[in-house]
Amino acid sequence: MGLKVLLVGSGGREHALAWKIAQSPLLEALYIAPGNPLMAQLGRLVNIAAGDTLGLKIFAREQGIDLTVVGPEAPLVAGIVDAFRASGLKIFGPTKAAARLEGSKRFAKDLMRKHLIPTAGYSKALSHDQARDILRGMPPPVVIKADGLAEGKGAFVCRTPEDVEEALRILYVEKRFGVAGEICVIEEFMAGEEASLLVLTDGRTLLPLPAAQDHKPLLDGDQGPNTGGMGCYAPAPVLTAELTTRVMKDIVVPTVHAMNSEGCPFQGLLYVGLMITGRNARVVEFNCRFGDPETEPLMLLLKSDLLPVLQAIAGEGLGEEASPLEWHAGAAVGVVLASAGYPGKYEKGHPLRGLNSLPEGVVAFGAGVGGTPENPVTAGGRVLCLTARADSLQKARDKVYLAAQGVSFEGAQYRRDIGHRALDRI
Ligand code: AMP
Ligand code: GLY
Repeated sequence: MGLKVLLVGSGGREHALAWKIAQSPLLEALYIAPGNPLMAQLGRLVNIAAGDTLGLKIFAREQGIDLTVVGPEAPLVAGIVDAFRASGLKIFGPTKAAARLEGSKRFAKDLMRKHLIPTAGYSKALSHDQARDILRGMPPPVVIKADGLAEGKGAFVCRTPEDVEEALRILYVEKRFGVAGEICVIEEFMAGEEASLLVLTDGRTLLPLPAAQDHKPLLDGDQGPNTGGMGCYAPAPVLTAELTTRVMKDIVVPTVHAMNSEGCPFQGLLYVGLMITGRNARVVEFNCRFGDPETEPLMLLLKSDLLPVLQAIAGEGLGEEASPLEWHAGAAVGVVLASAGYPGKYEKGHPLRGLNSLPEGVVAFGAGVGGTPENPVTAGGRVLCLTARADSLQKARDKVYLAAQGVSFEGAQYRRDIGHRALDRI
């Protein structure tokens, strides 16, 4: 008998995980809650929201689910893993206590300070007055971050005194993030190039994925407002083999040890956001789940079966002798097609065209897709992540951009330069 798997989430990351899990010979059935219409060809969509822990738990018990895999951070931070485990259900992801690495910037920074893990210097503010006091001694550039989850919108990189005022207004006058935003971390600004290192771990054994590079600004040349990510490629050469070894030794291993010694072992996918300055790397942030859009190219590159790894981490552990993950040679690139107006206001409901005639080897992962499998429509700011793999970054990029010409919806916008930092190096 194969495994019955329940995947929780509905975006591009979950689509990419579903695409990979669906290829596993160990799989008997894949259920996706709630999923999106483009995922219907990979598994059965179940109409339960990702935040409905009780509903998901009842479903998992009734269907005899062997393994639940959680995509997004909110249910993890809310404690879905603890709830499932308390009912004897196997689930991939960190506990509520371990998910604090993402759910509380204060927790993450204090942990790094205590365990000497390289990151930007910081102070904590518990009130508006305290924030102002701290900022008097820290002229811009500085970074102000709301403590709690803020859907990726809680970090303010302030280059001028006006930026500082605007951030304080949002956090303390508008109170956009509620109580979560009244506690904030004020960080030293780090210059450099960012990269994401994702590591699968059971709290003992580490299985790193190739470094990836997200593209957060909306427009070519890294201009315009920040978004949830307009594209990504992997591997990212900025993280050289030598630097990766150092990051594993100085950052990843100490972080996993620190979590063990704090009594909250991290089991799941540890996402380390890095700032690389010359030959040094420091932590920008931790996430407690797969990155989006990093997962889209990474799943295309992954040769090994992912399902037994997820199952081992959720259960008996990877074991000391776990073989490293195997990867296809070459590179993969994901380009996000977004709605007109994103990251501001945008319309929904525009039909998606051209998805049935994608070139061989190009996958359209649905990020914000609604409607039906027969008639999918736009339902989010980021709509699709078109992803391709080839034996070089340039070829993968050519392939994905050629495919992008054949896919459309009203007002679609996308960056034309995903991967530029890697190509500029050559
Ligand atoms: P975070 O929510 O911590 O991931 O921050 C969001 C983005 O803000 C990061 O991806 C960086 O681009 C930027 N950022 C955060 N912290 C810093 C820092 N200390 N120095 C420079 N940029 C930062
Ligand atoms: N790519 C950024 C994130 O997943 O948070």
